[in-house]
Amino acid sequence: MSAIQTGRRFLVTGGAGFIGSHLCETLLALGGHVTVVDDLSTGRRSNLDAAQLNWGGKIDLIESTVSAALPSFTARRFDAVYHLAAAVGVRLVVEDPARAAETNIFETAAILSFASRTRTPILFASSSEVYGKGVRAPFKEDDDLVFGAPTVSRWSYGLSKAIDEQLALAHAQRDGLPVVIARFFNTVGPRQRGRYGMVLPRFVAAALAGAPIQVHGSGRQVRCFCDVRDVAAALPKLLDQSECHGRVFNVGGDRPVTVEDLAALVVRVTGSASIIEHVPYSEVFGNAFEDLAIRVPDIARIRAAIGFDAHIPLERTIADLITEHARAPEAAA
Ligand SMILES: NC(=O)c1ccc[n+]([C@@H]2O[C@H](COP(=O)([O-])OP(=O)(O)OC[C@H]3O[C@@H](n4cnc5c(N)ncnc54)[C@H](O)[C@@H]3O)[C@@H](O)[C@H]2O)c1
Repeated sequence: MSAIQTGRRFLVTGGAGFIGSHLCETLLALGGHVTVVDDLSTGRRSNLDAAQLNWGGKIDLIESTVSAALPSFTARRFDAVYHLAAAVGVRLVVEDPARAAETNIFETAAILSFASRTRTPILFASSSEVYGKGVRAPFKEDDDLVFGAPTVSRWSYGLSKAIDEQLALAHAQRDGLPVVIARFFNTVGPRQRGRYGMVLPRFVAAALAGAPIQVHGSGRQVRCFCDVRDVAAALPKLLDQSECHGRVFNVGGDRPVTVEDLAALVVRVTGSASIIEHVPYSEVFGNAFEDLAIRVPDIARIRAAIGFDAHIPLERTIADLITEHARAPEAAA
C-alpha cells in the first residue's frame, strides 16, 4: 500500500461494472475512499459487494447516470476521476446504436466539463474499437483510425469513443486538464458477463454446461486477451504520473490467440466434452456486421511509461472463471 495514496478520494463512473469493480478494489487497496456513480444498466451491486469483501473498505454507490449525479458534487470533491461508464458490448451496441452513441458521447462530455471545471485529473476508458477496421498489426497509439460506413451499426461504439478521445484531448489543450486515455483491448476475468456478447464468459458457461461452444465467424480472428486484474492495477499508475497526462495508451495482453484456439483452450482447461460449432455473423448480428481479422495492441508505450506487463496467463483467468461459475452459475450470464 502506498502511503502517498492513503485517504485520497476517487470517483469511479461505471464502478459497478466488470472492469470498474476491479478498479475499485485496486483503489481500496491503495487506501483510497471510493465513490461510484453507476446507473446499474449493465453493472451490479454484487460486484461492489465482492470488491468491498476483498479489501474491507467502503464504497459509496450513487445509483444514477453520470450527468444526473454531477450537479450534486461540490467543487474539487475528488482527487481523481476514472470514467468507465459506457454502453458496452457488441450485442448491446448493435441492438441499440443510438443509446450507445448518446451514452458514450453525452455522459463523457459532462464528466470532462466537470473535471475541467474542478481541475481534477481524469482517466478515460477508451477502446481498441477506435482503431476500427485498420489493417496494421499490432495497433500503435498514433495509427490512423479507420471506420466503416455509418450504416453499419457496430461502428457507432468505436466512433463515439473516438469523439470522446478528441474531446478529452481538447480539454487538455484548452483547459490544461490532466487527462489519460486508456484504450482497452479484450479484457477478461471474473465478473464479466456473457449476455452482452463477451466471448470468454460465453465459452466457459457453454463448456461447463456441456453445450456446443459457438464461435462466431471463421474463428480465425486474432485477439489478445488481458486479465482485468492486470488492467485495473495499471490505471492508477497511469493517472498518477504527470508524464502520462495528455497521452493515449493501449492497455492489453501481448499473447495473440485465435478465437478458435481460445475455444479449444476453454475445452481443455474445463475438461469439457463440448463440441466447437461455427455460427455465421449474419445469424448472430444480422447482415450488416463487419469484424476485424486481427486486433492486437502494441504495448511498448505503456511498458515504457509504467513497466506494464500482462502477468496473469489466460489459463489462470479461465480457471478463476470456472471457480466463479461453480460458486454462482448465474453470475456470468
Ligand atoms: N471489457 C472490455 O473488454 C472493454 C474493452 C474496451 C473498452 N472497454 C471500456 O471499459 C469500460 C468498462 O467496461 P466493462 O467491460 O466493465 O463494461 P460494464 O458494462 O461491465 O461496465 C460499464 C458500467 O457503466 C454503467 N453505466 C452505463 N451507462 C451509464 C450511465 N449513463 N451512467 C452511469 N453508469 C452507466 C453500467 O451499469 C456498468 O456498470 C467502458 O467504458 C468500456 O467501453 C471495455
